[in-house]
Formats: sequence, C-alpha cells, structure tokens
Amino acid sequence: MNTGTTQNNSALIDPFGRRIEYVRLSLTDKCNLRCFYCMPKGFTDFEQPENWLTFDEIERVIKAFTELGVARVRLTGGEPLVRKNIASLAQQLTALPGLSDLSLSTNATLLDKQADALKQAGLSRINVSLDSLKPEVFKNITGGELQPVLDGLMAAKKVGMSPIKINMVAMKGINDDEFEDMVNFCLQHGFTLRFIETMPMGATGDDATNHYLDLQQVKKQLAEKLDLIPGVMPGGGPARYMQIKNTDLRIGFITPISQHFCETCNRVRLSVDGTLYLCLGQDDKVELQPLLRQGISDSALKTVLINAIGLKPEKHEFKDKPEQVVRLMSMTGG
Ligand code: 5AD
Ligand code: SF4
Repeated sequence: MNTGTTQNNSALIDPFGRRIEYVRLSLTDKCNLRCFYCMPKGFTDFEQPENWLTFDEIERVIKAFTELGVARVRLTGGEPLVRKNIASLAQQLTALPGLSDLSLSTNATLLDKQADALKQAGLSRINVSLDSLKPEVFKNITGGELQPVLDGLMAAKKVGMSPIKINMVAMKGINDDEFEDMVNFCLQHGFTLRFIETMPMGATGDDATNHYLDLQQVKKQLAEKLDLIPGVMPGGGPARYMQIKNTDLRIGFITPISQHFCETCNRVRLSVDGTLYLCLGQDDKVELQPLLRQGISDSALKTVLINAIGLKPEKHEFKDKPEQVVRLMSMTGG
C-alpha cells in the first residue's frame, strides 16, 4: 500500500490549512436502535434505496479520494451493519492501494454474526457505542436489548479485532453513576474507553442538551478513584487520552462542546445518498450522486472533490448557536 505522490498528498488542503486525509462514510441512515439523543422516536423519514450510493459508486469516490491523499476511511451510519454485505464492501475498499486504514463504528447489535467476515475482509479497528451496562438503562437510552451488543463485542474480541473502542456518551442523570463500571469492563476485556459529550443534533437537540455533562467533571470524578496519567493512542482523531497507571487501559475524552477541536479537523463525511458534507455542524455540502450517475470522468470527479474541500467551514457552532439545527447525526454518521 502507498499513499500517493507528494503532489497528491497535498491536494486536499482546506482554506484554513488543514489537510483532509480521512473520510467518514455513512452506509445507511437507518438504525435498529433509537438512542434518544440521536433519532427522534417514530422517525421514519429515511433515504430511498434507489438513492443509496451503490458499493461500486462508493468504491469510485473513495478511490478518487485516496488518489488525492486520503488514507483512512471509517464506515458509519445510522447503523452500518443493517445494510447487507458490508464485508464485501470492506473487501472492495481494503483492496484500494492508497487506503491504509479501514475502520467501523457500530452499535454491535449485529456484530456477532458478521465479525468474522469483516475481520477477514481486512477490517479490525472498531468503535462500539455502549452507554450503559445495565439492561434497563440501556433499554431506556436505546429502546433495545443489551445482550446482543455484549455478544457482538465478545465475537469481535474472539476473532481478534483490535483495537476495540467503547464510545460512551456521558449523560447527567442517565449513566453518570456507571463510569467506573465501564472502566472495569474495559480493563477486563482489553477495550479502550472513550467518553463523549452530547451534542445538540437535529430534532433531538433538546434531549441531548438536557443531559449535557462537561467531561472535565467526568475526568475529575475518575481521578478521585483512579491513578490517571497522560496517555497516547494512535488514531488521529480528536480524543485526548489518559491512562490508568500500571495498566494498558486508555481513556479518551471527546469534547466537541467544552473544548472544540475544529482547528485540527482532518475529515469530511459522505452520506448514504452521496452528499459530501464538509462539517458535522454546518450545512456546507456537495452532491456527488447526480455527477456519478451522469457519468463524470475520474479526473473531473477529483476536481469536484478538490473544489469541495475549498468549502470546508472553519468550525461548528454547537455552543454559540445550539438552536441552529443542522441535521440528524444518523444522516451524517457522527
Ligand atoms: N451527541 C453526541 N454523540 C452522538 N451520537 C449520536 N447522537 C449524538 C449526540 N446528540 C454518537 C454517539 C454514538 C454514535 C453512534 O453517535 O457517539 O455512540
Ligand atoms: Fe443508532 Fe447509534 Fe443513533 Fe443509537 S446513536 S440510534 S445506535 S445510530
């Protein structure tokens, strides 16, 4: 695998000097859970299947991106594993010469049966959303059952996926009594743990805001019980890591609100219908699907991508304008 020529590596620099080398690819806007901070109850306004980018269309776009210096892709959703044959897409993508890192974000409810095929397709880095280890709290947050998630996690561990990161959205009055339990669970299984602040996203913004917890408080709470030292974790994302002394456990803090990290943003997002979103919290976008279906050439597609990066906004405004509803997290894939 190589990551392209020098010229290509510098092709995707945005107006604020940030090099874009990471694409978050949403494979579906559907999900088999309904986390209250993510999707409104009863929400059914999903994209029509004929508007989904096909696997071949996705491969074309990602190939063009890799030729412009993108080396990392993460499969997201909605819940990516509700779409059929994701392992076969994973295989198509890992075969691209410029792609050095393919990862997956999942709720793990369907991972049990798919872990092996995904691993064989070259996918081993996974992030799993898990906000509670108590079945009744899990149900209250997601509307679903905890056990399939635990089964999925154990299957991933068994087939040797690594690293396995647990993403826990920290919520006041919901799961703020479970931080230590989650630390112990991750210690026991060799998982990495990341805490995430709730963001005001889409129609569920209010729910998220009502339970907002500044992660500085979580850190303080943990530091009273645990011997935390600064830690590092490869990955290139926005998490700041601590480590528990004399263990391998890393604990990351993702703080989009209390300390935003837009200055180092290295990513763009491609939604299921082929819309390229330049920022999670802003509406700037370019629709690629019509161009692909009108038969755009590879070189023209690359020009479109380069120009799109020129539209990338400086930062989100979740804190300054929480009422400015952009779209649901499940549309852009977190
Ligand atoms: N705030 C923060 N994170 C969110 N996610 C979804 N909605 C929100 C929100 N409002 C993220 C969580 C979850 C993943 C699937 O998407 O990290 O684990
Ligand atoms: Fe599904 Fe993840 Fe949204 Fe929960 S947060 S509803 S698991 S996409």
